[in-house]
Amino acid sequence: MPWELLVWCVSVVLFLALLTQRYWESRLPFWLRGMRDSPLRWYLIGYPLAVCRIRFTWRRLCQNVDLSVMRRSRYTAVSRDTMVRGTPIRPIPPRLGLIRPTLLGFTVRVHLHPGQTPAQFLGNADAFVHAWRVHAVRIISTKRGEVSMIATHRDPLADSAAAWNAFPAPRLMTAVVGRLADGAAWVMDFLAVPHWLITGATQSGKSTLVASLVTALGAQPVAILGIDLKGGMELGLFEKRLSGLATSRAEAIILLRQVIDDLGRRMDICRADGVRSIWELDENDRPVPVIIVVDEVAELYLAADPAGKKEAVECSTLLLRTAQLGAALGVHLVIAAQRFGSDLGPGATALRAQLGGRICHRVTDETTAEMTLGDLFPDAVIVAQAIGEHEKGVAVTTVGGQWTRARSTLVTPDQARQHSAATSDRMALGDWNE
Ligand SMILES: Nc1ncnc2c1ncn2[C@@H]1O[C@H](COP(=O)(O)OP(=O)(O)O)[C@@H](O)[C@H]1O
Ligand SMILES: [Mg+2]
Repeated sequence: MPWELLVWCVSVVLFLALLTQRYWESRLPFWLRGMRDSPLRWYLIGYPLAVCRIRFTWRRLCQNVDLSVMRRSRYTAVSRDTMVRGTPIRPIPPRLGLIRPTLLGFTVRVHLHPGQTPAQFLGNADAFVHAWRVHAVRIISTKRGEVSMIATHRDPLADSAAAWNAFPAPRLMTAVVGRLADGAAWVMDFLAVPHWLITGATQSGKSTLVASLVTALGAQPVAILGIDLKGGMELGLFEKRLSGLATSRAEAIILLRQVIDDLGRRMDICRADGVRSIWELDENDRPVPVIIVVDEVAELYLAADPAGKKEAVECSTLLLRTAQLGAALGVHLVIAAQRFGSDLGPGATALRAQLGGRICHRVTDETTAEMTLGDLFPDAVIVAQAIGEHEKGVAVTTVGGQWTRARSTLVTPDQARQHSAATSDRMALGDWNE
């Protein structure tokens, strides 16, 4: 009897499937794709498989990459003139903690053996990637005697940036400009890190990141000043929202002189109130925060004729003074450059030292990555160099004292124009220093 029922049920299902074929046939590939990318698939199949793989291969993996240690031999045989020491047979791998799933992979803590350092694990990150069949493994050491391994099973930055869900708007002076490699929002926080340097080869995504930043900050009561010596091609899109735009060195000097004058005014306000930063002032008395965005800074520094050279030196001095004084006074710098080294002039390295936030897109030479990240995070240099040509907008950035890969949100010129028109009432031209 039950068999008959089963045959009946299957027949009914097949019959219904046949009847509705026209409905589901065209949608099937879409559903299958949805299932493949759904987090449920990772939690139900991918993650348990990964746990089994890691647990079963951990001992062998550690042995192969030299992370196991030999316990001292317990048995020593001594006869009258000879001493025989037993060789340890089982090397002991570092203790593996609980493997916790995350939306994009898993995290696991490893307890170091005495004498081991995180650098030994860092050097073997590639071996972990291949042994665990994951997209990437990031190794950080937040606690003494432990390393945390953060694995991602697929690259979240490979998705189309335009399709990402919008992240909730953060507080004043922080901007969500894209997505981090662990799927979280990429937040540039100007209160935590006042000045930023963005580097990368041409067509790597610098201007797009700047556009994403201006779009995000544009919605806040912040004055944005632009310096774009490529004829204002990039920042000109935001002309309606910008409180000032300089497209030549002479205009940049005028703009930066205004900024320096305004810094003096801000200092007076702070001194009169006995505070050390504008953020300690009462909200009603607080001057408007200012972000100065410079696209392609080399255009500002490199001049052929003597008059231009003089202007370049002045620009460099003004920018340096702005960086030195601005942080506490609510004046911030964002500088985009293909390279930013001593070859640009004497002021460049001094200014670079002031730019604590670093973002490095695809580079074509090692020195640029070194210059951007090397002084703070030597191990991030290799990761920045590995960014491929097709990975436009992908960068290595510093976040909360660590580095991570990230990708900016794509802002098209049309979106930029629309956005700047919609937010133009935020900060009318010229009223930022009143
Ligand atoms: N986050 C991103 N996602 C997708 N495409 C991007 C992204 N960032 C940049 N691109 C593409 O790369 C191209 C070059 O970017 P751009 O910002 O002009 O580079 P750069 O200023 O470094 O020369 C853009 O036209 C854009 O199509
Ligand atoms: Mg550009």
